[in-house]
Amino acid sequence: MISTASISAWKELPTPFYHYDLAHLERTLRSAQGAAERYGYHIHYALKANTDERILEMMVNHGLGADCVSGQEVERALEVGFTPEHIAFAGVGKSDDEIRLAINSGIFTINVESLEELTIIQQLAKEMGKVAEVALRLNPDVDAQTHRYITTGLEENKFGISTWQLDEVIAYLKGAENLKLKGLHFHIGSQITSLEPFRNLCARVNILNERFRDTGFPIDHINAGGGLGIDYDQPDDPKNPDFDAFFALFDDYLELQHGQQLHFELGRSLVANCGDLISRVLYVKKGLKTNFLILDAGMTELIRPALYQSTHLIENLSAGEELDAVYDVVGPVCESSDCFGKRVAMPTSRRSDLIAIRSAGAYGASMASHYNLRSLHPSYYSTP
Ligand code: LLP
Repeated sequence: MISTASISAWKELPTPFYHYDLAHLERTLRSAQGAAERYGYHIHYALKANTDERILEMMVNHGLGADCVSGQEVERALEVGFTPEHIAFAGVGKSDDEIRLAINSGIFTINVESLEELTIIQQLAKEMGKVAEVALRLNPDVDAQTHRYITTGLEENKFGISTWQLDEVIAYLKGAENLKLKGLHFHIGSQITSLEPFRNLCARVNILNERFRDTGFPIDHINAGGGLGIDYDQPDDPKNPDFDAFFALFDDYLELQHGQQLHFELGRSLVANCGDLISRVLYVKKGLKTNFLILDAGMTELIRPALYQSTHLIENLSAGEELDAVYDVVGPVCESSDCFGKRVAMPTSRRSDLIAIRSAGAYGASMASHYNLRSLHPSYYSTP
């Protein structure tokens, strides 16, 4: 819920900007960690969702690990104080420099996505006279039932090692002296709103974990990735998302072997609901079929609607509650995809009204761009 105190403070501020409610984030982190600790599970924060400094600081203070997908994210994670032993690094296209950085930093695991990458890591680790600690990111061929752009666990996706190649990978690992296999990693996709895909994932992980038991490689942890979705229509519901149900499902369906740890890499579910994109109405433009609410924020600040046809709740913070008008809510950028919502029921809105685009804390600021040479927005915070 956006407070009236915040709304009156924002009247003087130039828009657009991101607002992060750090008290909301604090509550979300407590709820996620409380639920995970019940089973002794470990949470890594997926930096790609949001690398805002204050947010990262809170993740570090809460003792979370980090999940990174670029050398820059690994560097940022180290700079802000995540301990190397809690940093996982995935990605299908790691450069030699990124691999060297990961080996030198002594991070938790390099999550390897192909046999080809494995051979390069072995070669580089040998040159450096080191042993690289790796996990195999396996492609379980499980449908995440989400948007196809953020589906990552199907055979047709570029991510992870396919199971048909496992014998070859295991044979290679047996002779690779500079590699230490620690874990198995999975990540089937993002914004997964039903628990069914995770149940299917557990079934696949059980089979694959079993298969590794007989290879002579002790697997000390399973990393089940991220993906837990949120309900974009209910940004203020404290049970959105439901971490209890999520972790309970893994407790019910995933068969860990003796001494094995279970890790998760959560992004969206931790930060989406603490962030809002705050904008102003520039024009209310009449059309024949629809009226347009033209905002000063656009796809340069929040690309999700344009890229994934996603919908975020849009609220007019300056008008009453009655939804007596319908608008296409659009931004100023030179593309018709620059649209936050079509036929959105809203109160009658006027020029200069403050508009909040809710649940924008994940994959909002981190995906912002300079397109049309637009400036990057500032961020403001309310604190616990
Ligand atoms: N682990 C790995 C290896 C990942 O690739 C991702 C996200 C995560 C964890 C965290 O997933 P989450 O818990 O946030 O679902 N830009 C898209 C989402 C892309 C997700 C990329 N990978 C969006 O705005 O919906």
